Amino acid sequence: MSVKEQLDKKKLPKHVAIIMDGNGRWARKRGNARVFGHQQGVKSVREVTEAAAELGLKFLTLYAFSTENWSRPKTEVDALMSLLVSTISSETKTLMDNNVKLKTIGCKENLPGDVRDKLTACMDQTKDNDGLTLVLALSYSSRWEIVEGVKKIASDVLDGKLNVDQVNADIFSHYLETSYMPDPELLIRTSGELRISNFLLWQIAYSELYFCNVLWPDFRKEHFFKALLDFQGRERRFGKISDQVKK
Ligand code: IPE
Ligand code: IPE
Ligand code: MG
Repeated sequence: MSVKEQLDKKKLPKHVAIIMDGNGRWARKRGNARVFGHQQGVKSVREVTEAAAELGLKFLTLYAFSTENWSRPKTEVDALMSLLVSTISSETKTLMDNNVKLKTIGCKENLPGDVRDKLTACMDQTKDNDGLTLVLALSYSSRWEIVEGVKKIASDVLDGKLNVDQVNADIFSHYLETSYMPDPELLIRTSGELRISNFLLWQIAYSELYFCNVLWPDFRKEHFFKALLDFQGRERRFGKISDQVKK
């Protein structure tokens, strides 16, 4: 039986988030420039998007570019931005074919104009698709997002739209970029790094974490299904004891 066939279709997560890591190392191992790894990583994005759509997941959030990634050499940042532009153009058809809606989280103002324009056009074209929502985290960092949320709350309190006593975890989550999505049940990171790198810190409070050694450009549907199968074997207790959560 294939890994996909072993999955319990009734126990799939609604939201999976992925830290796509290892492009640079993948390229260097082959004696190529780092950017070659980023180019190859696009195929993996297509694979996981198709896999998630096939399974009927509702949200797939991909960490594509962090706030901290702006500090990389300018040539690499420029290459990543132009790769984004060409990828959005070439992949819009795949999104339409798979009934996928594109969204982003992160500081859009920091992105170059051509990237913003392509994103806006693609989001507009895919807005009525009601299968999977593919969320690209671009110029995203969780601390930035949380601070922005705090500022919006402070402003609503000053404007008299919100009472300080009303603020709780549920209200707070509505002030985040991810306000319309459930928290990810599963977070995957590739390339063997065991850290979160400023990604969805609030939202992963109770996510299951899955780390694998595969470098992102080698990540295929089978690896995604394997992560989901591993997830399905876990017991999520949310602070309770085992007996309480067993059906
Ligand atoms: C992930 O691969 C992609 C981005 C962060 C844009 P890296 O570029 O971080 O690759 P490694 O970690 O250096 O191998
Ligand atoms: C995290 O990867 C950001 C993305 C995958 C976009 P990095 O490669 O930038 O993270 P660190 O620097 O190893 O923590
Ligand atoms: Mg990396």
